[in-house]
Amino acid sequence: MKKFFLPVDVRFGEGAVNLLEKIVGPDDRVFVVSDPGLVAAGISGKVTAILDRTGCAFTVYSDVTPNPTSDLVASSMEVLRGYQPTKVIAVGGGSPTDLGKILSALATNSRPLADYQWNGFDFEAPSLPFIAIPTTAGTGSEVTRCAVIGDKEVKKGINSDKLFAAYAIIDPELMTGLPPYLTATTGMDALTHAIEAFTGLGSSPVTDAWAKEAISLIGKSLWTACADGSNVKARTDMALASMLAGVAMDQAGLGMVHAMSGPLCTHYHLAHGEANALLLEYVMRFNLMSCAKKYRTVAELLGCDTTGLSDFEGGALAVEAVSRLFAETGCPVDLKKYGVTADAADTIAEGTYKMYMIANNPRKPSTAQCRQVFLEMLAHNQ
Ligand SMILES: [Fe+2]
Repeated sequence: MKKFFLPVDVRFGEGAVNLLEKIVGPDDRVFVVSDPGLVAAGISGKVTAILDRTGCAFTVYSDVTPNPTSDLVASSMEVLRGYQPTKVIAVGGGSPTDLGKILSALATNSRPLADYQWNGFDFEAPSLPFIAIPTTAGTGSEVTRCAVIGDKEVKKGINSDKLFAAYAIIDPELMTGLPPYLTATTGMDALTHAIEAFTGLGSSPVTDAWAKEAISLIGKSLWTACADGSNVKARTDMALASMLAGVAMDQAGLGMVHAMSGPLCTHYHLAHGEANALLLEYVMRFNLMSCAKKYRTVAELLGCDTTGLSDFEGGALAVEAVSRLFAETGCPVDLKKYGVTADAADTIAEGTYKMYMIANNPRKPSTAQCRQVFLEMLAHNQ
């Protein structure tokens, strides 16, 4: 029996952000979590302009860095405790959203963060009301019960029903200014969520439906969103795909791409989407023999003709389609600039095994196979 639980009130579409006026009132004190780039680009300002109209008090915490750590949680928590908010809003991609979730939960629960990071404790009290306003189409964190926080060189995903947002306000207009490279790499992250959810051991007919629609939308619109960021139709497709893939991964689990990208981001400071974009093709090639039929479906959803082919041949087309999407949307990066060399192979392979999502992967890799997949990826990206 599978569980499907999604308690988030989702508001989606152009102008959706204006619904904040109905959710926040003059008696509220709102703690807005964002990052310096979004403040400079005026995106957080669009949200605070709406908060101004509600008459609430608010403060903006914008010291968020990519791949948030337990140190960042500690310093931002001190600021939050000083402000005593009634609601928390995250404006941004996965990092502000994950941090906002954790702050909302810690504000009403007494244990230290470390107790909730793989140490057997769950949050007991409901979180402060948390509102997620994504500005990228990738993480899907606005609809998941997971927040990823780095701790002692391991990225630890904390899962709790208490971490679901009260509201996810998904407004594609907030995404039109996202630069092409970030559009591409966050979009490939969403594609990874959908493919890993669809082919993972935890998949179900319900999550398959969400994942398949996400794959199809990304195949249709990622390229356009990268080529013309102001195309609201493409942005809308990507925002919807990201949300659908987020739900699918949250309910079905992830796999080897995310297990490998964890140590790659922690040790070499790649962005999450960037690391997943790099790894997806090579992990798919490794997994092909274990889920050829589902990869064949992925190929068809990405527009490939599999008529007359075996499942394995059809599935191989999915790997090629993902490879083309990676190249055409401008994801390739020279890993030398991050200091990633073949010497990293053992660190990545060992780190992969500390990530719990490896257990959900359709094919169980050995450490040697993890090394090999990493080295194949590296050979094509330096
Ligand atoms: Fe991801």
